[in-house]
Amino acid sequence: MKTFALKGNLLYTAGPSRLESFQDHYLVCEDGHVAGIFDTLPARYAGIAVEDSSGALIVPGMTDLHVHAPQYAFRGLGMDMELLDWLRAYTFPEESRYGDMVYAEKAYGVFVDDLKHSTATRACIFATIHPDTTLLLMRMLEKTGLVTKVGKVNMDANSPDDYVETTADSLAATVAWIRQSLSAFRYVSPILTPRFVPSCSAALMAGLGRLQGEYGLPVQSHLSENPGEVDWVKALFPDSTCYGDVYDRFGLFGSGGPTVMAHCVYSSDAEIKLLRERGVFVAHCPQSNVNLSSGIAPVRKYLENGLSVGLGSDIAGGYSLSGFRAVADAVSVSRLYWRLVDDGCKPLTLPEAFYLATKGGGAFFGKVGSFEAGYEFDALVLDDTLWPSLRPLAPEKRLERLVYLGDDRCIRQKYVQGRKIFG
Ligand code: GUN
Ligand code: FE
Repeated sequence: MKTFALKGNLLYTAGPSRLESFQDHYLVCEDGHVAGIFDTLPARYAGIAVEDSSGALIVPGMTDLHVHAPQYAFRGLGMDMELLDWLRAYTFPEESRYGDMVYAEKAYGVFVDDLKHSTATRACIFATIHPDTTLLLMRMLEKTGLVTKVGKVNMDANSPDDYVETTADSLAATVAWIRQSLSAFRYVSPILTPRFVPSCSAALMAGLGRLQGEYGLPVQSHLSENPGEVDWVKALFPDSTCYGDVYDRFGLFGSGGPTVMAHCVYSSDAEIKLLRERGVFVAHCPQSNVNLSSGIAPVRKYLENGLSVGLGSDIAGGYSLSGFRAVADAVSVSRLYWRLVDDGCKPLTLPEAFYLATKGGGAFFGKVGSFEAGYEFDALVLDDTLWPSLRPLAPEKRLERLVYLGDDRCIRQKYVQGRKIFG
C-alpha cells in the first residue's frame, strides 16, 4: 500500500487523561499504519502524496462498540418504555421482519450507508436470528471498507413465537453461518452473539461456548443493563454469583476469546472483579441507558478498577449513531452520577470520554484509535467551519465544540487502515 500523509491539526489521546495536540503537522501512513507525526516531512518521505487539510482537525476514527443494525429502522421511535417492555413492543416485532431478504436489503442499506458516513471506523454489530440476512448485512458492510464484527443473534427462550429458534436450529444455523462468513471477507468477521441471558437456554449457551472454543471467535452480549432484567437473570440462574457469572460458566465471558458486554449499569463488585480478571470490555451506551430508564454506569469506577471501556450507540435504545453524541452523553451522565449518586465518582472529562470513543473501544480491534506509531491508520478529517468562532480557539477547544455541536456533516474525509472511505 502506498505511503502518504495528511496535514492538519492532529489530536488524539494516548491515555485517558490528556489530549495530544500537534498543530499543522504531518501524519504519515505507511502500509496502513501510522508511521509518525512530523512538523516537516523527513527526507525519506520526499515526494509522497500529501492531503493538505490545513486548518481542519484530524482525529482517530471512533469505534461503535455496540450497535443493532436491524433496529436502525425505528431509531427515534418508542422511547417511552423500559428495556423488557420495549423489547416486546418495538424491538422483537421489527427484528422479526429480517427473515425477508427484500425488507432486509432495504433497511440494512440505509444503516450501512449511514454507518459509512458516521464517525465510526470500526463497529461491533448485532444482526438478527436470521443467518441469510446476517450474511447479506456482512456483504453490504464489506463494500464500505469499514472494519466490523457482525453477529447472528441467538435466542431460544422467553421470546415471541414468531421471533425465536429451537436450541438445535440456533446452533446449527450458527455453525453454518460461521463457516460461510469466517474467511469470506477482508474487513468483516463473525462474532458470537447470545442476545442476553434471558433469551438463551443453558443448553444454547453451552453449545455457543463449545463453538467459541472450536472457532476461537469473539463474543458480544448484554450485561446488567436494567433492574427488571437483572432481577430476571437472578431468578433464572439463582446459583450464579452475578449476571456475568452465568456467561462465564458457559465459557462466554472472555476465558476463550475477546468479549464485549454492553451496559454494565448494575455490575456488583464481584462482577467488576470478573470483568477485570477475564479482560472483558464494557461497551458504555449512555444515550440508551437514559432512554430506556436503565440508569447510569459508573464508568469512572470501571476505569479506576482497570477495566477496558469503550462507547456504543446501542441503536435503537440510543437514537444517534454519532460518536460525537456518545462522547457528549458519556460526559453528561457522568456529571449527573457524580451530583446525584456518588460524589466520590468524579465526572468524566472530555478527553477521557474522547479516549473511550477512540483508543478505549478501538483496543477491541487491536492497535486502533490512536495516532501513536504502529497504530492502524484510522482517521477522520473534521471541518468545524459551520460554526464560526468570534475568536481563535485552540484545537482542544475546537474538538470540544465539535463534540457538542457536530454531526456527520463535519466529517470531510474518513480513512480506515489507510484506505480512504470517502472524501
Ligand atoms: N437486551 C437484550 N436485547 C437488547 C436490545 O436489543 N437492546 C438493548 N439495549 N438491550 C437488550
Ligand atoms: Fe443493545
